[in-house]
Amino acid sequence: MNRLRSFRESPELLGLPLPEMLRLEEFLLRRFGIEFRADWLEDSTVAEQCGPEVGRRFTQLQFDRAEGGGPESDQDFYALISAPPLVGLVHSMKFAFILDSMAYVSALIRELRITGPVLEVGCHAGYLSSWIAVNHGLRVQGWDHCGPAIETAVAVREALGLPATALDFLSRDIEASLTGVEPFQLIVSVDGPVTFELHSLQRLRSLMAADGLAVVVSDSALDLDAELLNRAGLQVEHSDVIGGRLPREPSGFSAKVLVVLSRGEKAELEPDWLEKAQAFWYEHFQGYANTPETPGHQKTLAWCRSRLRS
Ligand SMILES: C[S@@+](CC[C@H](N)C(=O)[O-])C[C@H]1O[C@@H](n2cnc3c(N)ncnc32)[C@H](O)[C@@H]1O
Repeated sequence: MNRLRSFRESPELLGLPLPEMLRLEEFLLRRFGIEFRADWLEDSTVAEQCGPEVGRRFTQLQFDRAEGGGPESDQDFYALISAPPLVGLVHSMKFAFILDSMAYVSALIRELRITGPVLEVGCHAGYLSSWIAVNHGLRVQGWDHCGPAIETAVAVREALGLPATALDFLSRDIEASLTGVEPFQLIVSVDGPVTFELHSLQRLRSLMAADGLAVVVSDSALDLDAELLNRAGLQVEHSDVIGGRLPREPSGFSAKVLVVLSRGEKAELEPDWLEKAQAFWYEHFQGYANTPETPGHQKTLAWCRSRLRS
């Protein structure tokens, strides 16, 4: 894990080579219709491109969720946005997070020579899982309790010509009781069901190989505390931020915390761990992103890392 610590001093080491960034963008667009968009997705566009019935349902579910509709409206929403072209239209609204998390996990796999197997929990239509299988040739499983999302993921897997032995998608709830599951060398959850709560961390640990790592992007990372991690038998190896320009962001830029965990009991968190993770990038990124020469789709931390590295 010493290698991981060196990323604190030189975080640009986790930048992908520029041609790989372009390949990643091409993959997202071609396979899922996910791309950078400067403008917000209007309900009228959904109705035009997906038909009036889907349009009505989309508007209603967005309203229900804004009103705090709870897990049911979330599940209905994730099911509705599973099929093309809506899967691409909606996910393009968080292009910077999707691109950045995929680039980050790719770079970690490369730098740490991770050999798999890899598990992604909350994989939805499987963009990250498919990319890891295609780009790194690792054995990957994607789990999501949303059946329609798994159907889309399987359809893309078939179009890619990959067998289920290489890339498997399972309609599975991570909270359900699990037996006979092999441990994973890398587990990824991006805005997925893994949160920094005790039961979730304990479940995560139970799925990790002894020398395994977990990459978690979750807003609940802001509540992370060492005692909780200790109780779950996990420790922080590395933390960083991902993100970039999103439509409708007043600041024009939005970031999320990414934490890399391993199994262990040394869960001491430096008091300013989050600030340290953010400081380098905020300062550097501002200059990079505010330059007119930087195209909109490249105003993300992954592109910034990539340019720093090259
Ligand atoms: C916000 S989406 C994130 C999807 C994707 N990781 C991304 O970054 O775009 C959350 C996903 O987690 C899935 N999910 C939520 N709770 C789950 C659970 N308990 N077990 C499996 N999947 C779950 C949802 O169905 C949804 O696809």
